[in-house]
Amino acid sequence: MKTKKAVWIPAMIAVTVAVLLVIYYYYMSSLSGGGPGPRPSEGGSTGPVGVHPRGEGRGGNGEIFKTLGTISVFLGATAFSWFWFKKKLRSPSMLVRRAGRLLHSFHKLLGWATLILIAVHGIYFLITKLQDNKTYTGLAGFAILLAIAGYGFFINKVRNKWMRTVHRLLGLLWVPVLLLHAGGSAIMAVIASLAVGVLVWILERSAGKTTKLVPEER
Ligand code: HEM
Ligand code: HEM
Repeated sequence: MKTKKAVWIPAMIAVTVAVLLVIYYYYMSSLSGGGPGPRPSEGGSTGPVGVHPRGEGRGGNGEIFKTLGTISVFLGATAFSWFWFKKKLRSPSMLVRRAGRLLHSFHKLLGWATLILIAVHGIYFLITKLQDNKTYTGLAGFAILLAIAGYGFFINKVRNKWMRTVHRLLGLLWVPVLLLHAGGSAIMAVIASLAVGVLVWILERSAGKTTKLVPEER
């Protein structure tokens, strides 16, 4: 019993680390004034002459690495969407069945791709923007993703009924952190994933109805 519950420990550590980083983010943002939200400019008037103000005149390489972050958010959302299909692999709707099998077969790949892309994104910003407060929420998101991947890796290796639950809960806990860190893309990704869930539900119902109605009507 005790050892069964021990599977929660790594997740609790990851979540604690993430929470501390988020608290630190709020603390640092309040120090620089203006609170969280639009990134405050560091250095200010004491900064060296010629330093570009944030937000303007950047572009260039950074944009590519930011885009990697955006792509990862959507890959993560696609990985999560497998959840809507897991009990529907025998659905009366062929579309649901096929999409479910597809998502299932790509689930691990999507997960690892998310992790790798985000590592590239994170390393880039750790090197170039260590001072940016967003680094803290980014690291918080990374801590949770790392735990998600860890549980995912062991789901079929460790016989424990909680593995899937923890893996799924971490996926859900990832959302608030990403809303904080990735802003608009996280909102879009959550909406998109929910929309997939609704679509599955609608397709299921209409396909279920027709198969039931056919023998009844004729
Ligand atoms: C490994 C730790 C991470 C670090 C150090 C980090 C760092 C940063 C920084 C500094 C920015 C701001 C870039 C800028 O405005 O020029 C940023 C933006 C972004 N990050 Fe991360 N990040 C990390 C993890 C993540 C994770 C886990 C995700 C989601 C899967 C993510 C998705 C994004 C997105 C979508 C943006 C663009 C947000 C916007 O358009 O304002 N990042 N990241
Ligand atoms: C990083 C690598 C990942 C690996 C190796 C992995 C692995 C797995 C495995 C083996 C399963 C069980 C599949 C089955 O039922 O046959 C699973 C389920 C699931 N995964 Fe992942 N996964 C990863 C990433 C992710 C990510 C990024 C998310 C979303 C944030 C996610 C969300 C889920 C959900 C919601 C389930 C269904 C859990 C349930 O049974 O309720 N996974 N994953």
